[in-house]
Amino acid sequence: MAKYKFPKGFLWGAAISANQSEGAFEDGGKGLSNIDVIPFGENRIGIKLGVNPPTYPDDQYYPSHTGVDFYHKYKEDIKLMSDLGLKVFRTSIAWSRLYPLGDEEKPNKEGILFYKSVFQECAKYGIQPLVTLSHFDVPYGLVEKYGSWRAYELVSLYARYAETCFKEFGKYVHYFITFNEINIVLHSPFSGAGLTFKENENKNQVIYQAAHNILVASALATKIARQINSEIKIGCMLAGGSFYPYSPKPEDVLESIQHEQENLFFIDVQARGYYPSYAKKIFEEKNVKLDIRDGDLDILKNTVDFISFSYYSSRCVAADLTDKNVSDGNVIKSVINPFIQISDWGWGIDPVGLRITCNQLYDRYQKPLFCVENGFGAKDSLNDDGSITDDYRISYLKKHIEQLGYAIQDGVPVMGYIAWSFMDIVAASTGQMSKRYGFVFVDKDDKGNGTYNRSKKKSFEWYKDVIKTNGENL
Ligand code: BG6
Repeated sequence: MAKYKFPKGFLWGAAISANQSEGAFEDGGKGLSNIDVIPFGENRIGIKLGVNPPTYPDDQYYPSHTGVDFYHKYKEDIKLMSDLGLKVFRTSIAWSRLYPLGDEEKPNKEGILFYKSVFQECAKYGIQPLVTLSHFDVPYGLVEKYGSWRAYELVSLYARYAETCFKEFGKYVHYFITFNEINIVLHSPFSGAGLTFKENENKNQVIYQAAHNILVASALATKIARQINSEIKIGCMLAGGSFYPYSPKPEDVLESIQHEQENLFFIDVQARGYYPSYAKKIFEEKNVKLDIRDGDLDILKNTVDFISFSYYSSRCVAADLTDKNVSDGNVIKSVINPFIQISDWGWGIDPVGLRITCNQLYDRYQKPLFCVENGFGAKDSLNDDGSITDDYRISYLKKHIEQLGYAIQDGVPVMGYIAWSFMDIVAASTGQMSKRYGFVFVDKDDKGNGTYNRSKKKSFEWYKDVIKTNGENL
C-alpha cells in the first residue's frame, strides 16, 4: 500500500496557553486566576488537586505570574512562528484578562485590545489562531465568591465571556475550543476547574455537578457562537489516550472499557448532545445526584463541530493492582505498560497509541478530529555555541506524526496537527521550566531567573521542513 499523504490544507500548528506563557499577571487590568495562586514547590500538588485550599502567601514563587512574558514579547514570538511556517497558532484567552473578577457587566477594554493585537499580528503573517476559551483558567474572583464551577451562576458568566470573545475576535478566529482537557476536572479539580472541597463532603458530587455546569456552559457557548457568526467552528477537547487492558484477562478488558467510559463521558455529551446511558450507573456508584435545571438538557443538544484532543501517551489498566507499578504520568493514573518506554517524568511514549486513539474516537463520534496537543517534555542542554541538539524531541514528534498519517490512511478525517509547544513555557503539572517542550528555547529557570531570550532549537528547522513539505519529509 502507498505511503499515507497528509491532505492539502492540513493545519500544521504549535501551541501555548495563556496561563503558561503570558506572565504580566496584573498588567492591563487583569485579575487573578486560579492558576495564579498555585505556587511552585512542595505545596503545588495539594493545591492543584483541591486537597488544600490556596492561601497565596507572599513568600512563594508563582510561575504563572511571569510565564515567559508572551504578553510583552508576542510580536517577536509571532514573527518566529511565521519563520517556522505555522498555519495555526493555538493559544487561549485568560478569562480574567477580559473579566478580572469574572462577574463584571462589561469586559476590560485593555484585555480585548491585547488579544486583538495578538490576532492581528497573526493575520499579518497568514497564521490562523485556534483559541481555547478556558485552558485551566477561572477568574479567582469566581472561586472566592461562588466556589467556581460548583455554582450554576458560572454558566451565564461564562456565556457572557464567550459571547464577548465571539463578537470581538470572531473576525480573526474561526476555530474555538470551549474547555481544554475537559476530563481533567476529575483528576485535578482545582487547577482544572477552580474547585476546592469542604471537609467530609462528597467530592464526586461536587466534581460531577461542576462537570454538568461546565457541559451546559460549553453547549450554551456553542449555541451563541452559531447565532453570532456562522463561520465559527467549535470543538470540544479531551485529554486523550486510550486505556489498554494490562492483559487479555476478561476482568482487565472490562476495566479498560470502564475507564474509557469515565474518560469519554464529557465528549459523549458534547458530541452527541445527551448523557450516555452508563452515566446513570457512575452517578449511582459515586452517590451523585445532579441538579439539572429546566432547559439544561435542551441546551446540551448544541453539539460541537469537531473533536479535538491532546495525546501524550496511552494508558494501561488492570482489575487487580497487586504487584503492578503505577505512574500518574500526565495526571491520569496508569499501570506501567512493559511494552512502551517512559520519559524522565514517567510519561509513556507510545506513537502507535495515537493511531489507536484516532480510530477509536472517529469510530465513536464520526466527526472530524483535530490533534491539538502532542509533544515531548525533556531537559535541554546548551552546546558551547548556545545551540540545542534536541534529537530526542524530533524522534518523538516524527514517530507520532507518522502514526497520525497512518490514521488518515485508515480513513480518519484529521483536520490538523498541533505540536506542544511552540516555545518553552511553564509546565502545567510541575510548574517547572526545565521540562521543556518547545521548538524555541526560552532562557528562564525553574525559579524564574533568566533573560527570557528566545533561540531556535534543532527541532525548529526540522518542523519547518515538515510543514513546508506537508509532512513528506519527516
Ligand atoms: C496538557 C495541558 O495536559 O499537557 C497543557 O493541556 C500541558 O497545558 C501539557 O502543559 C503538558 O503537561 P506538562 O505538565 O508537562 O506541562
